[in-house]
Amino acid sequence: MLYIGVDLGTSAVKLVLMNTEGSVLKTVSKEYPLFFPHPGWSEQHPEDWYEQSCAGIKEILEGVDASEVAGISFGGQMHGLVILDEEDRVIRPAILWNDGRTGKETDYLNQVITKEKLSEYTANIAFAGFTAPKILWVKENEPENFRRIRKIMLPKDYLAYRLTGTFATDASDASGMLLFDVKNRRWSKEMCEICGITTDMLATVYESYEKIGTVKPELAAELGLKDGVIVAAGAGDNAAAAVGTGTVGEGRCNISLGTSGTVFISSDSFRVDSFNALHAFAHADGHYHLMGCMLSAASCNKWWMEDILGTNEYGKEQEAITELGLNHVFFLPYLMGERSPHNNPKARGTFIGMTMDNTRADLYQAVLEGVAFGLRDSFEVARSLGIKIDSTRICGGGAKSALWKRMIANILNVRVEEIESEEGPGLGGAMLAAVANGEYKSVAEAAEKIVRVKNTIEPEPELVERYEARYQQFKQIYPACKPIFEIL
Ligand code: XUL
Repeated sequence: MLYIGVDLGTSAVKLVLMNTEGSVLKTVSKEYPLFFPHPGWSEQHPEDWYEQSCAGIKEILEGVDASEVAGISFGGQMHGLVILDEEDRVIRPAILWNDGRTGKETDYLNQVITKEKLSEYTANIAFAGFTAPKILWVKENEPENFRRIRKIMLPKDYLAYRLTGTFATDASDASGMLLFDVKNRRWSKEMCEICGITTDMLATVYESYEKIGTVKPELAAELGLKDGVIVAAGAGDNAAAAVGTGTVGEGRCNISLGTSGTVFISSDSFRVDSFNALHAFAHADGHYHLMGCMLSAASCNKWWMEDILGTNEYGKEQEAITELGLNHVFFLPYLMGERSPHNNPKARGTFIGMTMDNTRADLYQAVLEGVAFGLRDSFEVARSLGIKIDSTRICGGGAKSALWKRMIANILNVRVEEIESEEGPGLGGAMLAAVANGEYKSVAEAAEKIVRVKNTIEPEPELVERYEARYQQFKQIYPACKPIFEIL
């Protein structure tokens, strides 16, 4: 049998075709635009996701015996607000996970409703990218749109809805809405009341590996699929990536270096840190995880290379970086504000420490190191909770860079395990579809049988020491700049 995993990302939809044994036979990527209508805002058109996903499915089936395709599932960019009216029309462009417009609503939730209450209702506090503050923003700023809302959904759930007609979500993605009682895996009536919505506007919650329906017959015919292809609920992209890298079970770690940068720690039981600095979310294997999320990771690399230097010769630019741990330029990677751990949409990207001898390579090095230092910030929170992390898996576009992975191993002082297929969320999505179709009896079994480590990058003591000193300096830059970010 064959399974299609759909990674509905921020820059593109990436599809993976996997066989029952877990081998990736083919991948296809289809881009779509991202709109920044105001500084700090970030939007996309759900119709673009749907059209490009359908085009991607058609392309991935070329030259393949499509009758072998048995299931489809997803890893989707999290937190995005998609709202539909009574005729199922999309009311406005989706407001994405890295959109920072909701500073006022986030402050209202954290300070007036209070972090304690939010944590009691959902196990989390408000961050600007989460869905609930966006609903409050629409209520306040677009009251006519707010009145028309009949369905509220997440990006990949919109896709599943168009494919199957089933209004569904999964526990991992629902966790990022701040409307979901994560511990008990059900919608929070209190949070719905606070946002002025009703639970019937929200989808039925499934586990990620459960079947929600089948592809609509007329659409299956158009896409070239046989009748009855099952669709599984799928997961938020980070939980799906964790499945795709075998990060399931107690105390395992995965770093995703995509547009966002995340540190994902899987856990068999529910837990939450006392300051809610890390997100406490449901995992796609039916259990839980903790996560820190940087809003700009591989996107800092792309911004520096393509928008600033005007080149896409990544390998060549990285070859010029040779003196690891000795650079005295620092970069704060907050190009879209920052989520973990600062929770500050007003934070901004910053270079500091330049002198006349600095080169283009030093600045590029600072960009890559700045992202790794940002990941270290989330690691420090996990360590402060007594979580011991000796090794991590890694995936995402940024994980293609050997240099960046070496920096991460040394800045975090962990063993970085490279796995055979770095398709992360796409592979995880395909694995969830295979579990839903009964090929594996659990997500854990699928991960155990499918995911293989191909190489390990060990931290190097001398570099660990150099980077430790530099991290201690890095840590002091954000607090010093914070008052400036307020007035910029
Ligand atoms: C996680 C988050 C991002 C997006 C990126 O909380 O906001 O990782 O899911 O697609």
